[in-house]
Amino acid sequence: MDTQINVGVVGCGYWGPNLIRNFQFLPNCKVGKVADLNQERLGHIKQLYPDIEVTTEFDHILQDDSIDAIAIATPVWTHHELAKKSLKARKHTFIEKPMASSTDQCRELVGLAKNRNLTLMVGHTYIYSAAVRRIKEIVDSGDIGKLLYINTQRLNLGLFQKDINVTWDLAPHDLSIILHIMDSAPVSVNCQGRRSKKAGIEDVTNMSLSFKNGGFAIVQSSWLDPNKVRRMTFVGSNRMIFFDDNETLEKIRIYDKRVEAPPHYDSFVEFQYSYHHGDQYVPHLKQAEPLKTMCEVFLESIVSGEKPLSSGFEGLQVVQLLEAASESLKLGGAKVKIPDLITTMMGEAQESDAGVYESNAVRKKPRGEKEQTQVTHPSLRAVR
Ligand SMILES: NC(=O)c1ccc[n+]([C@@H]2O[C@H](COP(=O)([O-])OP(=O)(O)OC[C@H]3O[C@@H](n4cnc5c(N)ncnc54)[C@H](O)[C@@H]3O)[C@@H](O)[C@H]2O)c1
Repeated sequence: MDTQINVGVVGCGYWGPNLIRNFQFLPNCKVGKVADLNQERLGHIKQLYPDIEVTTEFDHILQDDSIDAIAIATPVWTHHELAKKSLKARKHTFIEKPMASSTDQCRELVGLAKNRNLTLMVGHTYIYSAAVRRIKEIVDSGDIGKLLYINTQRLNLGLFQKDINVTWDLAPHDLSIILHIMDSAPVSVNCQGRRSKKAGIEDVTNMSLSFKNGGFAIVQSSWLDPNKVRRMTFVGSNRMIFFDDNETLEKIRIYDKRVEAPPHYDSFVEFQYSYHHGDQYVPHLKQAEPLKTMCEVFLESIVSGEKPLSSGFEGLQVVQLLEAASESLKLGGAKVKIPDLITTMMGEAQESDAGVYESNAVRKKPRGEKEQTQVTHPSLRAVR
């Protein structure tokens, strides 16, 4: 493959134009073609970028040999079909979150990419943000002690979706961050919700997750809130981190706060928690558009053959949790157990070549015979 990467984008509604802008302005990349069923949206893109070819036929992108990679920014229910065609046409494939509508669909896509030696990446944009990368560094350094639990709130008024509930719409971001930071396999999910406006589609949900390492997380998602809220709290045994994505400059605040129970006491009267209130610290974050970093990582992964941070596997992990949340909603919030993905996929791999997954833990050497012409994105080395 030439160093210049030619990307085709399918879907230019609300989000697709952001991908087009980023790919178009990155060095060594250009957007060759954009497809959408909607002529008006294509007209809008043509007006912004007269040199980009537009088409209502996705097949025109698939059949174009000059296109190396395809980015998919269409509604979730179309992801599997479009990504399958893209991978079968031997294009490296980027899919917006959530990766697909079911774990079976995701597994099939992971297998197709693996067998064809293609990069498959999912748009978990937040894990490429400066704030989340910094939180990951702090947690991994042990500075906050043992990570006990994560609490997240992603709330706003609308936008009501027609095909998916609020968990599938908003929680993928939180889940991708939680999985990235917690670094442990989830073992169970409970989810409760309410359908206030549209039959069959929950607009408010509350999910809780338990992890193999004892960690716990709560994810609140809502289309029915007067305020736009984007908050996460990471509670460690020594310190706590508060992340407010609505803040422009002071997105992360580290609190030197903790609660300690006395190691031993002889009577209930003697028992008292000790509350520690220390300093607060706001680390400086270098401003960069997370989406730009994510697009760079996709291109670098295509060239190097290295697995991106949000590969098909991480996409599958998030969909596994969303699927379990839907199951729990049906059961009125009952606990749904999560099978360990690496173990189950390694089991499948022994039976058949399809669906083989190499996790970071089991990957022995970089994929493929390609020459390593580029290295990992420098800003991501620390967190890989
Ligand atoms: N990473 C993020 O922060 C982020 C933010 C918003 C949306 N998204 C994701 O982006 C994706 C698209 O969301 P959106 O809000 O832009 O949706 P949208 O409905 O505004 O746009 C989707 C576009 O896809 C087109 N389309 C649908 N089926 C098609 C097909 N078969 N072939 C060609 N075009 C087709 C539609 O005509 C429409 O223009 C979703 O997966 C969503 O979750 C990601």
